[in-house]
Amino acid sequence: MQIFHHVESIRSALKEQRLQNKRVGFVPTMGNLHDAHIELVKIAQQYCDVVVVSIFVNPLQFGLNEDWDKYPRTFEADSNRLRDVQCDYLFYPDEKEIYPNGMAEQTRVIVPTMTDVLCGASRPGHFEGVTTVVSKLFNIIQPDLAVFGKKDFQQLAIIRRMVEDLCIPVEIVGGEIYREDDGLAMSSRNSFITEEERPNVSVLNRSLIEAQTSIEEGNKDFFAVEQEAKDKIQAAGFKPDYFNICNSKTLEPAANDDNEITILGAMYTASARLIDNLSFTLS
Ligand code: PAJ
Repeated sequence: MQIFHHVESIRSALKEQRLQNKRVGFVPTMGNLHDAHIELVKIAQQYCDVVVVSIFVNPLQFGLNEDWDKYPRTFEADSNRLRDVQCDYLFYPDEKEIYPNGMAEQTRVIVPTMTDVLCGASRPGHFEGVTTVVSKLFNIIQPDLAVFGKKDFQQLAIIRRMVEDLCIPVEIVGGEIYREDDGLAMSSRNSFITEEERPNVSVLNRSLIEAQTSIEEGNKDFFAVEQEAKDKIQAAGFKPDYFNICNSKTLEPAANDDNEITILGAMYTASARLIDNLSFTLS
């Protein structure tokens, strides 16, 4: 695996690959890689000849009181895992490389309506940071295909929309949610969960499954289903952020006759914010 720190050097390596008609796959990450990230790399490898992973803890997508400084940085372990899975290129830029104009930078990429709801409501500016950095990374790597996890369902939907709206020539592939045995979705932020909290955090996933079952059994009172789930999360000792039954495509509140449903939930533990979701089709 080759490691690149600079835009120019990875660009020229990828240019060589493209001259040989190689198909380039891309998996953007913020590092602290776990099994789910590695699964995304394997998906990219299925479709592409050369796979690039980026590791960049993007300051623009963290709010002022969020965990940018605490975010786990584990470059050695990450690069070893990527080597083991035979990733071809690792792009590991520093901040100057991605934001050469620093605070004076002017341009932002915004997908307005989809970014103000759900995670966007409690993390103002977060998705603007994501879409801006992903646009930059797409411009640097120019991948044929990029893989994003469904765990960040809203992020995936926003990126699909951005790519469509801006005619970016990249195919977006969604990777399934990778979970621990008790249903907890894998996340770098799981390292912030305390030992005491750990047995109870699967309440988020359980509430999603129970809500799905209730809806599939014909319950159309979505507001009551959402409220019941939030009560369960609260009873397990966590603070619910949101629990919303949505139309999978638009992420707007699901209408009674919608068939493609995604339920999205977020909750706070003492020092982490955890998210999860579940998609299904009503017949
Ligand atoms: P990060 O949180 O490192 O996640 C990188 C990719 O891994 C994302 O596409 C995310 O959805 C996926 N992922 C994380 N946990 C997962 C799980 N349990 N199952 C499936 N996929 C999972 O998401 C980001 O970084 C950043 O916002 C980024 C897109 C890199 C832009 O900075």
